[in-house]
Amino acid sequence: MQEPEDEAREMTFQPAQLAIHESDAALATCVAERVADLAAQAIAIRGEFRLALAGGETPRRCYEQLRYLPVNWAHVQVFFGDERCLPRGDKQRNDTMAYATLLDHVAIPPANIHTIAAEYGAYDAARNYAMLLNDYAPLDLVLLGLGEDGHTASLFPGNPATELSDAAVAVFDAPKPPPQRVSLGLHTLQRAQHRIFLVTGAGKRAALQAINDGASLPAARVGLSEWHIDRAAMPEFY
Ligand code: 6PG
Repeated sequence: MQEPEDEAREMTFQPAQLAIHESDAALATCVAERVADLAAQAIAIRGEFRLALAGGETPRRCYEQLRYLPVNWAHVQVFFGDERCLPRGDKQRNDTMAYATLLDHVAIPPANIHTIAAEYGAYDAARNYAMLLNDYAPLDLVLLGLGEDGHTASLFPGNPATELSDAAVAVFDAPKPPPQRVSLGLHTLQRAQHRIFLVTGAGKRAALQAINDGASLPAARVGLSEWHIDRAAMPEFY
């Protein structure tokens, strides 16, 4: 039985997990190249690459660069780490940003893009997405952002949805608007072959410090991940 403090020590960032970048632009370039590399590996081995895109603003530059890299998009299935319960096409939706920066600019078959129908409400959308994910699990790569409170996707600290075992979960009372969302469940994130976090800006320092100190925040619970962090976000521990 692992002692709690042992588990906490395991959550300290290992050097192999960390890539520290001088700028958010350098981080975006590096992560875009990592996505292209993992795509080539998965397609060579299994003929398909199952990628979940992160929401929020941090991945924007990465997606804008990814569209110019040699990815065999016909063999890529795109999913979303989470979606906000807003009308389709709303500027604040995560899929709206993904289409504008990447998906409208690459030769991916529309049927390969699996958006979350969050406009129909969190419960129905989560149930439908969980059924879809059961046909594709495990995902090859999940891109993730980090919230200032240590959330990732739409799994927020202390929110009941974070503890659910479903493949996709309905989120209510999210502290980051909008309050209703749909998220990949924690187990789906944990089961993915690879996880890459993109973290930029001084606003994320406190969350990174807390994770390094062993806080059991949602972003610290997804399993071994690559952490791509820019200098501005790096806490004093490095
Ligand atoms: C969302 C995202 C969320 C995001 C973090 C970081 O819907 O808001 O999925 O998890 O990744 O909150 O957001 P920024 O990249 O905008 O800082």
